[in-house]
Amino acid sequence: MTKTSERHVPVLFKEAIEFLRVQAGGTYVDCTLGLAGHAEGIIRQLGTKGHLIGFDRDPEALELARERLARVCSELGSEAPQVTLVDEAFSTIAAHVKPASVDGLLADFGVSSLQFDEAHRGFSFQADGNLDMRMDTRQSPTAAQVVNEANERELADLIYEYGEERRSRRIARAIVRGRPVTSTAQLARIVTQAAPTMKQERIHPATRTFQALRIYVNRELEEIKALFEAAPGLLKPSARLVVISFHSLEDRIAKDSLREGAQKGIWEILTRKPVTASEEEMDRNPRSRSAKLRAAERQGTGIREQGSVSNRSKL
Ligand SMILES: C[S@@+](CC[C@H](N)C(=O)[O-])C[C@H]1O[C@@H](n2cnc3c(N)ncnc32)[C@H](O)[C@@H]1O
Repeated sequence: MTKTSERHVPVLFKEAIEFLRVQAGGTYVDCTLGLAGHAEGIIRQLGTKGHLIGFDRDPEALELARERLARVCSELGSEAPQVTLVDEAFSTIAAHVKPASVDGLLADFGVSSLQFDEAHRGFSFQADGNLDMRMDTRQSPTAAQVVNEANERELADLIYEYGEERRSRRIARAIVRGRPVTSTAQLARIVTQAAPTMKQERIHPATRTFQALRIYVNRELEEIKALFEAAPGLLKPSARLVVISFHSLEDRIAKDSLREGAQKGIWEILTRKPVTASEEEMDRNPRSRSAKLRAAERQGTGIREQGSVSNRSKL
């Protein structure tokens, strides 16, 4: 049977690796290892003097990434780079990576197929599971806690803000009436009854509510903002930043941060418009349909400091 990590297809793989311009001997950070598809592509080009630092706040994903990268390193033998894995949120990056030490940084936001496909993780309404949605299962709250403990107004606001759902008030009212809500299927049913599919809509009626809860539970937008704040200080001059987003709220932060940085002379934007998947990739991997890649190059002459990490776990 194919291993889970190898079943996962990295989105915009070729484009991400090309924009990163991976150079042998360099230091690269993959902020969102997931199942390590992109990370494998990076370490195959790094050579023995290279260094990959990978983050994932989902301990299950990090272990699968570790296994996959260890297999690749043993295949590469003496050509294998150094690999350091950090099981924390990427907002902590500045505590693990030295200033001006990085040649390329990749972040592929969102949920991995491992998280999405496993019903017990509670990310998907396609299969019934506990209403959890935490990427980092050591943290709280779960989506069930939010849905059962927030008041109607708070629920409506978060569904509106993070789901961009115009019918948020109606949905919040139905959720409060339907409490306790403990499973993904139950929540999907409540949302569908309160706000059935409208004409021209191609998405499932619960899509936006699930997105909103996921973003809220995982503080996803705060994480992305923190990354954009830290990144300029960590990259060497001419180093590359590549980010892949999956919905408009993520992409807006990326676009605005890069534009502001470009005005201050921090970034040269390499993608005037975001790069999207080819028809062929979209057919092969439906998850790539909403992906948008933006890339930028660090400008200026920061302090050059060699070396990188305060040590975390090695392979
Ligand atoms: C879309 S997947 C990445 C897939 C990966 N590029 C690959 O090739 O397999 C996103 C991963 O990032 C992790 N993640 C999301 N937000 C994170 C954050 N703020 N800090 C650390 N990891 C995060 C998730 O747990 C998930 O495993």
